[in-house]
Amino acid sequence: MEKKNYKRTLVTTALPYANGPVHIGHLAGVYVPADIYTRYLRLKGEDVVMIGGSDEHGVPITIKAQKEGVTPQDIVDRYHNIIKDSMAGLGISFDVYGRTTSATHRVTASEFFKKLYDNGEFIEKTSQQFYDEEADQWLADRYIMGTCPHCGNERAYGDQCEACGRDLNATDLINPHSTITGNVPVLRETKHWYMPLDKWEPRLRQWILEEHKEWKTNVYGQCKSWLDGGLQPRAVTRDLNWGIPVPIEGAEGKVLYVWFDAPIGYISNTKDLLPDTWEKYWKDPETRIIHFIGKDNIVFHCLIFPAMLMAEGTYQLPENVPANEFLNLEGDKISTSRNWAVWLHEYLEEFPGKEDVLR
Ligand code: 2FM
Ligand code: ZN
Repeated sequence: MEKKNYKRTLVTTALPYANGPVHIGHLAGVYVPADIYTRYLRLKGEDVVMIGGSDEHGVPITIKAQKEGVTPQDIVDRYHNIIKDSMAGLGISFDVYGRTTSATHRVTASEFFKKLYDNGEFIEKTSQQFYDEEADQWLADRYIMGTCPHCGNERAYGDQCEACGRDLNATDLINPHSTITGNVPVLRETKHWYMPLDKWEPRLRQWILEEHKEWKTNVYGQCKSWLDGGLQPRAVTRDLNWGIPVPIEGAEGKVLYVWFDAPIGYISNTKDLLPDTWEKYWKDPETRIIHFIGKDNIVFHCLIFPAMLMAEGTYQLPENVPANEFLNLEGDKISTSRNWAVWLHEYLEEFPGKEDVLR
């Protein structure tokens, strides 16, 4: 139900983790639809920018680096370039394709956190978190696996269950084990900063459930089910050595949660593209912001990032968040770990000149 005459459009596309190449599922779900929409607006002569980039922090990167015995920086350098080149090869017409290890992003994400911290928007809490004594490492997010308490999926991660799409706290998992050693972890005390999502729940409820009934039913339905379940405070920092350092005293050795910094990457990449005018794409009510994402990203783009933006106070919320379901390949779920995918960079090598056939 678009009510306004917008002056410009900001299209963002989910930033793929730079821990592997992109496959046709990514293309079908996010990049081709976003590209079609952006090209359509450009053809109509509208003011539109399309923002992309690599998501280079978080556990997906460090796990891949550990597996290969190289540094996280080696991994993100390798895959950022493969992804960037292959997207260009297919003709995905980003106006900018940045990376979350950029200097602009480090400053932007740190300042965003600091502003929320200074305004008292976080809860500071010491709690018990999982630790792998053999690996001598904290087990954040994908370093821990177990059974989802909601749907029984035995391969749920510490932050999210990919089977039912629920966001999780690691301590919710049944039979938790370390994905590094397979060991049963111990609990240790650690301090973290939390976004009180419960505080923003009434506004999120009003904004989505009342004002955006036109959103796709899969997106609206997931949001409604989370909101009806009641939102809980959610940690936005982690005990990890790869990421953006938490920019406050007493947080040594801690970094921003990747899902705190990654969506801010859309803002940082807009700054790099338009150093003088980026703000009007994010802060002017006459800008239409559209986030193209995959279905596993709904909670982050519809609830957590908007709560962060509400807390920050100067940004516009998205007009729409189109999320697609996953693409199957010959009836089977596309899987990076089982190498069941058509990889974009391989397709481009094998079928030169046939980009539009794939699109
Ligand atoms: O699911 C993913 O691949 C994430 N890297 C998407 C991040 S989207 C945005 F927040 F950057
Ligand atoms: Zn589940």
